[in-house]
Amino acid sequence: MPRMHNDSSRLFKTATPSTKKAIYIKQNICYIAHERKGRKMKLLGIETSCDETAASVVQDGRDILSNLIASQVDIHSRYGGIVPEVASRQHLLTAIPIIQEAMTQAQAHWSDLDAIAVTIGPGLAGSLLVGVNIAKAIALAQGLPLLGINHLEGHIYANWLEGRAPDFPLICLIVSGGHSDLLLMKGHGDYQPLGRTRDDAAGEAFDKVARILGLGFPGGPAIEQAALGGNSSLHRLPRPWLKGSDDFSFSGLKTAVLRLVADLSEKSEKADIAASFQEAVVDVLVTKTVAAARRLGARQIILGGGVASNRPLRQMMAERSPIPVLIPSPILCTDNAAMIASCGYFHLKAGEISGWDLDVAPNLKLT
Ligand code: KG4
Ligand code: ZN
Repeated sequence: MPRMHNDSSRLFKTATPSTKKAIYIKQNICYIAHERKGRKMKLLGIETSCDETAASVVQDGRDILSNLIASQVDIHSRYGGIVPEVASRQHLLTAIPIIQEAMTQAQAHWSDLDAIAVTIGPGLAGSLLVGVNIAKAIALAQGLPLLGINHLEGHIYANWLEGRAPDFPLICLIVSGGHSDLLLMKGHGDYQPLGRTRDDAAGEAFDKVARILGLGFPGGPAIEQAALGGNSSLHRLPRPWLKGSDDFSFSGLKTAVLRLVADLSEKSEKADIAASFQEAVVDVLVTKTVAAARRLGARQIILGGGVASNRPLRQMMAERSPIPVLIPSPILCTDNAAMIASCGYFHLKAGEISGWDLDVAPNLKLT
């Protein structure tokens, strides 16, 4: 059980000469964040935007000291999708034990922390509220700065948690349950939108096609698994190129699958359709990302979001790209709190913090 104490004076004491200090004033609250020479900064990240309750302690935005994820997938799979009220209640039950365990595994006391970073959106309002309220309570009790984090930006920062840090400028593809975003990133916090989905997001398409094929929930891993035994060249599904645009569109592909399934009899055909669908999605994602990287002279391509854990996508992106491709380990592609803590660190370093009026933003966009 971590030691509980309230040490808010730590934030307000005069910095010693060996201390680099940054003073943040927001909502009439003055914070002095310490970056003592030789002392690393530890952030607690909290993520409850959807159906994963996650907490993590990350040092200097790069070193994961603990990374706990409690998935609700077994509960929601009974309903074939996420039930928002069930998700919020589950976060309420799980969040504190997960946070305590993350602190214990990181061997961190509350007084070791420099800030709390929490997802504020996009996501389910009720789920986000649980995480944000808990983050506020801890920040208030411990006198720590609070950082509200965009979940999509968190997915990008998963790329800072392993190996060498990415090199700017880079092309960034975020593919999750609700988003397919292509961005040019020239520096920390510097995002230029290139393309986004015009209808279904990539993950949403995987989930819907899995449902059509009766493969269960969540759809992405189920399709990937089913496709292993399938022949992707048996059905040539359409590629929605949207020529001249970096946008994506996957709903036509889903409709094409629906038509194919109407004539389905053999179970083995499901595998062929899953393989054909997966290949079409991956082909479009890779072709558009690589084309944007060439056109804009990017130094690297980075991926993030649950769909980035898809093996054929990872392989094809690495094979077709002329520049290095960074993709987080699968466990850091799907929702986690380490990416939120990492993202929070870079915001803190940039002198940003959130006020106590921090609210959830279920429809938050990145750009
Ligand atoms: O990023 P994420 O964990 O949550 C959101 O922010 O939405 O992404 C979840 C999405 C789901 O649609 C899921 O089906 C998809 O990512 N996904 C995959 C794979 N694993 C998860 N899609 C394709 N292949 C996978 N292996
Ligand atoms: Zn996500």
